[in-house]
Amino acid sequence: MAIVLRVRASWEIRMAKITAGIGTSHVPAIGAAIDHKKLEQPYWQPFADGIAPAREWMAQHQPDVCIVIFNDHASSFSLELIPTFAIGVADQFAPADEGYGPREVPVVNGHPELAWHVAESLIQDDFDMTIANRLEVDHGCTVPLSILFGEPENWPCKVVPICVNVIQYPPPSGSRCYALGQAIRRAVESFEQDLNVVIFGTGGMSHQLQGERAGVINQPFDRAFLDALVDDPESVAARPHTEYLREAGSEGIELVMWLAMRGAMDKQVDEEYRFMHVPVSNTSYGLTIIKNKL
Ligand code: DHB
Ligand code: FE
Repeated sequence: MAIVLRVRASWEIRMAKITAGIGTSHVPAIGAAIDHKKLEQPYWQPFADGIAPAREWMAQHQPDVCIVIFNDHASSFSLELIPTFAIGVADQFAPADEGYGPREVPVVNGHPELAWHVAESLIQDDFDMTIANRLEVDHGCTVPLSILFGEPENWPCKVVPICVNVIQYPPPSGSRCYALGQAIRRAVESFEQDLNVVIFGTGGMSHQLQGERAGVINQPFDRAFLDALVDDPESVAARPHTEYLREAGSEGIELVMWLAMRGAMDKQVDEEYRFMHVPVSNTSYGLTIIKNKL
């Protein structure tokens, strides 16, 4: 067996680095389908085929830490206290009980050292983060992990969960989420550990779960959103909430969290993989993997 020694000069400090961004819907029905072994069924087969290359990509990429930007759906915070932005700094985050008992997925391991560094950096950078010493993670966080990692005995990386309020009006603007992503990048890149970090933006795409327009799906909007998110993120960041509500339905507002992921990447990126499928539950499903251009 060959032993490769990585010799490093004493003055060379390896910093953490965001090496890829992933956008994915976090539909709870996907978690239920995975947990109940239904991905082989005809309804789920096209979805299973579409996420397979992303799972392969992730198996190759092997991040040390995933920063997962998602919204808590009144699972951990309840409607009595709703932080606009929160960061989980605990050692562990248990799957939340969303009414049917917690999902039987591994406990999510945190990275307190990185999380506290990111919290400090973001707050010094004028983002008023709520610090969550305890956080149960609902489908918003665990479904994206299941989509990308499958069903391992333990999740193969640490997770820094960052919650964005999109369930109680008023949510933060797209441009604020984009700026948050830029600040997360500054935070990660000033952390003195050699860590391969992948950032997730979750939620969406178009869907509305309530009211007269329940069932709204607008895949042309979602496709154009993704095209612009990749190539012209600042134009997407400038879009008002009303555009999401009108074009993508009331829960389409979850897409602002994809902007936080996008803000942590270079202006110029390559899209390594994209998959879209309609319907997944009541939504238009979308997945993108982007990397900074070399
Ligand atoms: C559904 C989608 C979501 O993003 C969510 O948080 C809850 C439900 C759905 O399509 O059923
Ligand atoms: Fe959601």
